[in-house]
Amino acid sequence: MDSAISSGGDWIRHPSDKVLPSSGEYASYTTYSVEAPVGRTTVPDAMGNTVTPGTDVVTCLSCHVAHASDYPDLLRWDYSTMNAGGGENTSGCFVCHTEKDTSGS
Ligand code: HEC
Ligand code: HEC
Repeated sequence: MDSAISSGGDWIRHPSDKVLPSSGEYASYTTYSVEAPVGRTTVPDAMGNTVTPGTDVVTCLSCHVAHASDYPDLLRWDYSTMNAGGGENTSGCFVCHTEKDTSGS
């Protein structure tokens, strides 16, 4: 799958079908968010609201909706507000990238 999303070692588009690492900023995403939902690699016995980094994956629908959305590019949120390093945004991209806004990195 990585060959389809990378070229020369750099991302050319955001990874999907990619397991959230169980370390770093991703380890903090543990409660299911309808704003940036993960996909399951196996159908759970019960549809709990726990997210398991190391098992759950990024999907197209983590960022997009299937049909019409209120935002450009069929996104779930307003991409123009996703500015890393601002310090306060915990929505959208920052549901998974939990340290990109708050730590300013
Ligand atoms: C991590 C978030 C994320 C994921 C996952 C993601 N996308 Fe996107 N997608 C974006 C963003 C952000 C844009 C807008 C890019 C821009 O404006 O430069 C976009 C743009 C698009 C567009 C162009 C839409 C338009 O109105 O021009 C298509 C089509 C698209 N994505 C399809 C997909 C498909 C199919 C997948 C899964 C294989 C996927 N995306 C996964 C964030 C994502
Ligand atoms: C559903 C969770 C999720 C969402 C939402 C998400 N990402 Fe990611 N992102 C990931 C994962 C997982 C990786 C791959 C991490 C790895 O392989 O170490 C990644 C990697 C990246 C990378 C490359 C690695 C890095 O940390 O710089 C960038 C850049 C990135 N994402 C930007 C975005 C942007 C911009 C958005 C919002 C449009 C977004 N992501 C939304 C999960 C997510």
